Parts: sequence; C-alpha cells; structure tokens
Amino acid sequence: MSQTAPHASLFESGSIAGQRLANRLVLAPMTRTSAEPDGRATSRMRDYYRDFARGGFGIVITEGTYTDECFSQGYLNQPGLANAAQRQAWQPVVEAVKSEGAMIVAQLMHGGGQTQGNRFVNETVAPSAVAPKGEMLGFYGGEGPYPTPRAMAEREIIEAIDGFAAAARRAQQAGFDGVEIHAANGYLLDQFISSDFNRREDGWGGSLEKRLTFPVAVIRAVREAVGPDFMVGIRLSQIKVTDPEYRWAGREEAECILRTLGDEALDYLHFSEIDATTPALEGVDGSLAALAKEDLDLPVIANGSLGDPAKAEGLIANRQTDFVAIGKSALANRDWPKRVRHGHALSEIDFAMLLPLANLANEDQWREKNGVYALHQGG
Ligand SMILES: Cc1cc2nc3c(=O)[nH]c(=O)nc-3n(C[C@H](O)[C@H](O)[C@H](O)COP(=O)(O)O)c2cc1C
Repeated sequence: MSQTAPHASLFESGSIAGQRLANRLVLAPMTRTSAEPDGRATSRMRDYYRDFARGGFGIVITEGTYTDECFSQGYLNQPGLANAAQRQAWQPVVEAVKSEGAMIVAQLMHGGGQTQGNRFVNETVAPSAVAPKGEMLGFYGGEGPYPTPRAMAEREIIEAIDGFAAAARRAQQAGFDGVEIHAANGYLLDQFISSDFNRREDGWGGSLEKRLTFPVAVIRAVREAVGPDFMVGIRLSQIKVTDPEYRWAGREEAECILRTLGDEALDYLHFSEIDATTPALEGVDGSLAALAKEDLDLPVIANGSLGDPAKAEGLIANRQTDFVAIGKSALANRDWPKRVRHGHALSEIDFAMLLPLANLANEDQWREKNGVYALHQGG
C-alpha cells in the first residue's frame, strides 16, 4: 500500500499466535440474540458475520457465546457452544467468514449475575449473592431489576471452568481460528475479579490474587483443552454493562491484573473501554491497552469509541495498541475497513436499528424500511 493511502497504519499486516493478519482491524464482539431458541446459529447470522469479513475486517470476533447447559446462558436466543448441535450450527458461519479471508474467533461467555434469560435453569449464580445495579437490558428482552444471584458452590465453580474448556474444544472442532474468554463487562469472570461482586472468603475470593484464581483457572483449562497452537485471548474491562462508572482500585490493581493474566498462556489481551484514547484511571496516562503495551509483551487489542479512523490510527501509530476493535461504528458500516481504505464516508449509527430488540430480524426490517444497505454499493 502506498504511503499516501488514507490511514495506512490500520492496513499494515499484523500477527497473533504466529498467524498473519491482513490488517489491524477487528470486529468487536456484539450480542445480537438472533440464534434459534435452542442456541444454534442461523443462516441469517452466517450472512451477517460474512459481511464483516467481506467488508475487510482482519478478525471477526463473535458475540458472547454460552459455554454449558447450566448457568452460563445470559440471554434468550443467545448462541451457544455447549453441545454438538450448537457446534455444528457454527460451521457454516465459520466457513463463510474464512472464505472471505478473515479470521474468526468465538467469544466464550458465562452470564453470571448479569444473566437475564436462560432456558436451562430458573436462577442465576455469581461469586457472591450481590445483585448487579440497575435494570435488565430491554434491548435483549429483559425487564425490571436483576435478581439477586445465588453464591456458587465449589462444585459449580469447577463445572463452569469445565464448561469453558469443553466449549473451547468445540470451537476448535467447528473450525474457529481461536477463542476469546469474556472476562469483561460485569459477566461471571469479571465478577470474580471485582471486590464489589466477589465477597467470598474461600480460595476463590479475598485478596486480588485470590479473586484472579477463577479467571486463571479458566485460561489454564481452556489452554489444556485446545493445545498450544490454537489462539486463546481474553477480554477485560473495568466497566460493567450495569455500571459504566466502575473503575479498578488504581494503577497497582490494574498492573496486578494485567501481569497475573499476562503470565498465562494467552495469545492476546483485548480491552473494552468507554474511550480508548483517554486515561483509564487515576495515576495512569493512557488507556488499559496502552498500559498493557507498556508492561507486557503480548499483542493488544484496544476498543472503545474508535469509529473515527484518525483516532484509531493514532493509537497504532503511537504504539498504544497493536489492533483496534470497532463496535457500534461497524454495525453502521459492516464494510468499515473498505470504506476507510477507499476514502468513502462512514455512516453514523442509528440506534433505531437495535430497537426494540437488538436482533438481526429487527435490523433487517430497519434496513428495508430506511433503504440502508449493509455493505457500500458501488465504487
Ligand atoms: C449491541 C451490542 C452488543 C454487545 N455485545 C457484547 C458482547 O457480546 N461481548 C462483549 O465483550 N462486548 C459486547 N458489546 C460491547 C462492544 O464489544 C464494545 O466494547 C462497545 O460497543 C464499545 O465499542 P464501540 O465504541 O466501538 O462501540 C456489545 C455492544 C453492543 C453495542
């Protein structure tokens, strides 16, 4: 690519886990609650994910996908990787994305106390019996306050770890290029890390080191299940879906979390922040991604308000991240990379596409009604 091409550093090749990536652009994981009621991915999902690959994203990360047939499902119509039928249903999605030259990574998620729709059980579990703040998410079909979860028994903690390992293995069998362990946004792994949600007095709670025992155990179990060569990343955040103001205790806590997890056999760290160009917390100059770049020797993905390509490029040019993940701006522009590369204008997201439910049927109707194509037409 010539030096004069717009935002050239976004289009330099990169590598994760020894695999070469076409560019630095990642589709952020986004829950669309569009699977069959039994958690099988659909042909509509296949076409949706294929569009992002066709649109030029180097890596497509799927929406949070549940891991077991017990407490992990967070939303009705969420896809799973909890059984053979769900694994098979992902295969056409995986093939479609790969056929466009992108990599596809399954985000593995356990809803924990933020669960608001689970067809297997009628209660929610979490490290401790602490209800998340606020109300369940209407655009994922929830209503009213979150129930207070039941504190997990030791046996249930082990089952949840085994669920992640088995789901990762299914992802590998389905042809995914990797898995991302969802430890962000207030779901189960994040709840174990956060002192507000983890008040346990056994080996899984107490000091920060002990609160990290569960995510570390999940990483180790997943790694053991998939072997050394399969890509395993982790997503972290301070913010919770239910509490965007939540921050870690300070730089020391942030560094301890990053170093402890960074010492494990991971291939990348992915950070979800409100704005990845602003300081993450007091005493830190840059984002969590920038802090990880400073402290660790692992590929880093930054996310949060990077829909403006100049902003995204600045982070890469200043070595504050290796990759950028685009969320809402990608919903408005499934071909965000191609548009930017060819100097075409980007569309702003119209939140009406996610209302009343953030599912794909609703988005398709919105496109039809407003005459908005998913991919840029012409040129
Ligand atoms: C509709 C929607 C669904 C989301 N679902 C997930 C999810 O399943 N897993 C996850 O880690 N983050 C999820 N997120 C958060 C995004 O990945 C991303 O972190 C957030 O939108 C901020 O990035 P942005 O400013 O580029 O949109 C979701 C966001 C949106 C808008």
